Amino acid sequence: MIELRNVWFSYDGEFVLKDINLKVEKGERIVVLGINGSGKSTLLKLLNALLFPTKGTYLYKGKNIEKNAFKDKNFIKAFRKEVVLLFQNPDAMIFNPTVYDEIAFGLRQLGFEEKVVKERVLYWAEVFGLTQYLNKPPFILSGGQKQKLCLACLLVLEPEVLLLDEPTANLDPKSTGWLIDFLNELKGVTTITSTHNLSLAPELGNRLIVLREGGSIIYDGEAEAFLKDQEKLINAGLVHKHKDKPYYHLH
Ligand SMILES: Nc1ncnc2c1ncn2[C@@H]1O[C@H](COP(=O)(O)OP(=O)(O)OP(=O)(O)O)[C@@H](O)[C@H]1O
Ligand SMILES: [Mg+2]
Repeated sequence: MIELRNVWFSYDGEFVLKDINLKVEKGERIVVLGINGSGKSTLLKLLNALLFPTKGTYLYKGKNIEKNAFKDKNFIKAFRKEVVLLFQNPDAMIFNPTVYDEIAFGLRQLGFEEKVVKERVLYWAEVFGLTQYLNKPPFILSGGQKQKLCLACLLVLEPEVLLLDEPTANLDPKSTGWLIDFLNELKGVTTITSTHNLSLAPELGNRLIVLREGGSIIYDGEAEAFLKDQEKLINAGLVHKHKDKPYYHLH
């Protein structure tokens, strides 16, 4: 469904993703793990075609995702409905006057009838516990509620690929547990979730992709095997030593 072939990316000359090779099949649940600055958000933005490879190829359902493909309006519409990204910072996604309009926005953009829009908005607002806020401005919501609102805005489109950039960052333990269960039950949707949290990684998916500093993949496989391998953990910068203590540990 998704394939990256020898993809390199640079914002301004220096490569922040290096020789990324990745194949994702429909329905897979993938976790992208890496320290701050290792390129997790950049990788997810590439997969969402907000950025394009500087070198190499991105294929989505066999179609080459490059700037020219996005001149085709029908293609943009289909891609934007099928592949959606939850930004690391929910405030970057919120701009409508009410929670209702916020959830409805994507569907209206795609030309859905108001009757369908209403049905779907009410359904997803209920799922995410936002019904009582539908007529309120989104800025009054707490950080976690905003995160849930952003998820509702994406799921209302019934996407095929859900890209989630640190979705648990603003959530308390109860909401984190709820989100993990929710993602586990989302059958048929391909999810690619980034995190720097080692203990959450195996819960967010069964295939782990680890980025190391500098933006290269150092592991692609089962989560458990990686998490037991101290050498790999050190290499990825995910465990460390304090100056006055001799042993490696994680926080
Ligand atoms: N818009 C930008 N312009 C220039 N450099 C950028 C830009 N966005 C990110 N970078 C750089 O690209 C590298 C990867 O950043 P990215 O945000 O993808 O990392 P990350 O793994 O998501 O980090 P974090 O865990 O802090 O969210 C970093 O060195 C960062 O400074
Ligand atoms: Mg990030």
